Amino acid sequence: MRKIAVVLGTRPEAIKMAPLVKALRNSKHLTPVVIATAQHREMLDQVLDIFDIQPDYDLDLMRPNQTLPELTARLITALDECLKEIQPSAVLVQGDTTTVMAASLVSFYHHIPVGHVEAGLRTHDMQNPFPEEMNRVLTGRLARWHFAPTQSSADNLLKEGLAADSVFLTGNTVIDALFDARKHPSKVARPIEPGRKMMLVTTHRRENFGEPLQHICNAVLELLEKNPELEVLFPVHPNPNVSSVVRAQFEKHPRVELCAPLDYLSFIAAMEAATIILSDSGGVQEEAPALGKPVLVMREETERPEAVTFGVAELVGTNTQHIVERVQRLLSDPAAYADMARGASPYGDGTAAARIVGILESSFAASDKTA
Ligand code: UD1
Ligand code: UDP
Repeated sequence: MRKIAVVLGTRPEAIKMAPLVKALRNSKHLTPVVIATAQHREMLDQVLDIFDIQPDYDLDLMRPNQTLPELTARLITALDECLKEIQPSAVLVQGDTTTVMAASLVSFYHHIPVGHVEAGLRTHDMQNPFPEEMNRVLTGRLARWHFAPTQSSADNLLKEGLAADSVFLTGNTVIDALFDARKHPSKVARPIEPGRKMMLVTTHRRENFGEPLQHICNAVLELLEKNPELEVLFPVHPNPNVSSVVRAQFEKHPRVELCAPLDYLSFIAAMEAATIILSDSGGVQEEAPALGKPVLVMREETERPEAVTFGVAELVGTNTQHIVERVQRLLSDPAAYADMARGASPYGDGTAAARIVGILESSFAASDKTA
C-alpha cells in the first residue's frame, strides 16, 4: 500500500478533502495518512467530527490572530518533520490557503510529488483574493498532478504552460461532500415562519477587513430597515478582524441572529432555509447554486466565474448601495428571483474524489511498470 499524505488546515480544506479521505480508505493500492496542520482549530474539528476523520498527525498550529509570516514559518518547520517521518508516496493539498502553499513547498524540498485538488482557479489579480491567488499560483508551479474542477480552471493551467498530461478535469470534491452530507439523518432545515424571509450572511476575506466590512454591515442594516419581513442569520467567522466588527454592529438587533460558525450539516440546513445568501466565501459560491439558492458574492472578482455565467450567482462587491439594490431586486421581483434560484451545479457531479483516486492509482501503476 502506498501512503498518500492528505494535508488539512482550515474548515473548507477539511470539507473538500473528506470525500478523498473516504475514497482513499476504499482504495486497494493507496492509503491515506491525514495531517491536520490545524491552521484552524475549532472550525477544523467541527468538520473532522462530522466526517469521522481522526488525523494521524495533528500539528496544532493555530494561534489567536496569527499573521501570515509566523503561520508560514510554523507550517514549514512542522511539516518538514512530519513528512520526513511519514515518507509518503505523494502529498495531496486542497485549495489556496497558507497550509496548501507551505505543504507544497516542503513536499517539493523532499522530492515528494504533490497533487493539487481544486487547481487552476484564477482571478489574475494577486491582491484579490489576498494571499490566496499567490498561494494558488505557487502551488500550481510546485504540483505534479493538477485536479481542475472545471474546464475553465483546466484552461487557466494549460495557458500557464503546464503539461497537458498533468492537468485533469475532475469536478470539485465540494459537491461530493455536499451530496454526502445531505444524506445525513440529523440534518434538519431551520423552520422559517410563514411570511418571513431569511438572508444568510457570511464574510471572512482579508481584502474585506476594515472599510469594506463596515460597508457590508451598513448594507445589511439598510436591508433590514427596508424589509420588515427579513431576518438575518449570520454565523460569525472567529477571526477577530471579523468578529469584533460584526458583533459590535448587530449584537442588539432583534432580527439578526449572530452565531458561532455552524457545523457543516447545520450550515447546509441554513442554506436550504435561506431565501438569499450574501457571502464572500469560496465554498458557499459553489454549494449555493447546487442547492438552488441565489448567492450574491461580496467581492470585486471571482475565480469561480461559472455560476455567474449561468446566472445563479452575482458579483455585488462591497459598495453599500449596490448590495442593497441587488438584494432588493431579488426580494421584490419574483421572476428575477426564480431565474437565479433555478439551481445548477457547474462545479461537479459528486464523483470528483473517485476520479482523483483513479488518476493517482493509474499514475503509480504506470510508474511501477517502467521502474
Ligand atoms: C483562512 C484562509 C482563507 C480561507 C479561510 C476559510 C489563509 C491565508 N487564509 O482564513 O484562504 O478562505 O481560512 O475560513 O490561509 N480562528 C479561530 N478558530 C478557528 C479558526 C480561526 O479562533 O477555528 C481565528 C484565530 O484567531 C486565527 C484567525 O481566526 O488566528 C485567522 O485564521 P487564519 O486561518 O489565519 O485566517 P482565516 O481568515 O481563517
Ligand atoms: N461553512 C460551515 N459553517 C459555517 C459557514 C460555512 O460549515 O458557519 C462551510 C460552507 O458550507 C463551505 C465552507 O464552510 O463548505 C466554506 O468555508 P469558508 O467560507 O470559511 O472558506 P472559503 O470557502 O471561502 O475558503
